[in-house]
Amino acid sequence: MYSAKVMDHFTNPRNVGEMSDADGIGTEGNPVCGDVMKIYIKVKDDKIVDAKFQTFGCGAAIAVSSMVTEMTKGMTLDEALKITKASLAEALDGLPPQKMHCSNLGADALHKAIEDYKNKQQK
Ligand code: FES
Repeated sequence: MYSAKVMDHFTNPRNVGEMSDADGIGTEGNPVCGDVMKIYIKVKDDKIVDAKFQTFGCGAAIAVSSMVTEMTKGMTLDEALKITKASLAEALDGLPPQKMHCSNLGADALHKAIEDYKNKQQK
């Protein structure tokens, strides 16, 4: 029921761990399943130069975290803000319908990390 890409990112997730010098951090949780995703980004000249994640969640949530951190590296903040749950699911060659909310978590946590970075710049 999972695509090969989902299985690959789930069994061999990229960019796992904490980033101690992150420029922005976004946390998103789903109260229904209890899963929580935290995304860290490093920003330089309006571009995301590095991204990491910590996720306590289902296999799809881990695959989504891995994919979103891979996708965003090298993107401008504006490009990264355009990432949606649909584009994430597509990048993973699809998710089962009951797992679409897991990709929502990835898009929301990323957008929150960007927001966090922008808020810190204004101080
Ligand atoms: Fe909730 Fe996957 S089951 S994030």
